[in-house]
Amino acid sequence: METVLITGASRGIGLELTNKFLELNYKVIATYRNKPSTELEKLQSNENISLIELEVTDEISINKLKDYLQGIKIDILINNAGIIGPEDQSVEGITRQDWLTTFAINSIAPLMISRAVLNNMESAINPRIITISSQMGAINRDNVGMYAYRSSKVAVNKVMKVLALELKEKSIAVCLIHPGWVKTDMGGENADISATKSASGIVNIAQELTMESSGKFFNWEGNEHVW
Ligand SMILES: NC(=O)c1ccc[n+]([C@@H]2O[C@H](COP(=O)([O-])OP(=O)(O)OC[C@H]3O[C@@H](n4cnc5c(N)ncnc54)[C@H](OP(=O)(O)O)[C@@H]3O)[C@@H](O)[C@H]2O)c1
Repeated sequence: METVLITGASRGIGLELTNKFLELNYKVIATYRNKPSTELEKLQSNENISLIELEVTDEISINKLKDYLQGIKIDILINNAGIIGPEDQSVEGITRQDWLTTFAINSIAPLMISRAVLNNMESAINPRIITISSQMGAINRDNVGMYAYRSSKVAVNKVMKVLALELKEKSIAVCLIHPGWVKTDMGGENADISATKSASGIVNIAQELTMESSGKFFNWEGNEHVW
């Protein structure tokens, strides 16, 4: 039985990923910030889920996760937790601190969490690290505004591309996924697809990811995304 660790599992895409992997009989370690949502808490009736608190920007919290994970094999890590950033992301309005916070969560934390679980992946047969990025971080798409969010996703794309190269020798596959424009608190109700649909696509990619596809950027349907 494979074990998947999902960050930001209280709501949105993270919650649906948790549901999907449980349906498929994976063991799921689902992380939440502060307090699990009622929906996540309800899933505790499933013996295959473990809930653990994780603030992805906090070193103490990451160390607690590391302690908890000692001796546990992790097959798949999904770096899902993320924020859209401050409301005003215009040239005039963006503040240094808000921008830095967005980077801390969206760009830096995924590497810190990946680093924290590397030892747990040593005994996995097909270890995989998946980071939920965004089409908004594609350099080749011409769109304006949203400086903090866009740049944080560009940055995480490069971070994971480098990690993919470095983890080749350990046979750990690393990829990025644009989850679609998804109806969540972040995506809003006018978005294109449900969180369930997005999560199904992400789970398919996670199940099929091998070293041959390491270092790639996919959309939720499994097609390669432009950088
Ligand atoms: N929705 C879209 O259309 C869309 C499009 C492209 C990419 N994405 C990406 O997909 C991922 C999930 O997005 P979503 O739409 O599901 O967003 P969401 O509904 O806003 O949920 C975000 C999740 O991330 C967690 N989180 C945020 N900051 C955290 C922190 N510092 N430490 C720990 N957990 C933290 C939240 O925890 P709390 O519940 O405690 O706040 C929540 O569980 C994100 O990386 C996002 O950038 C989403």
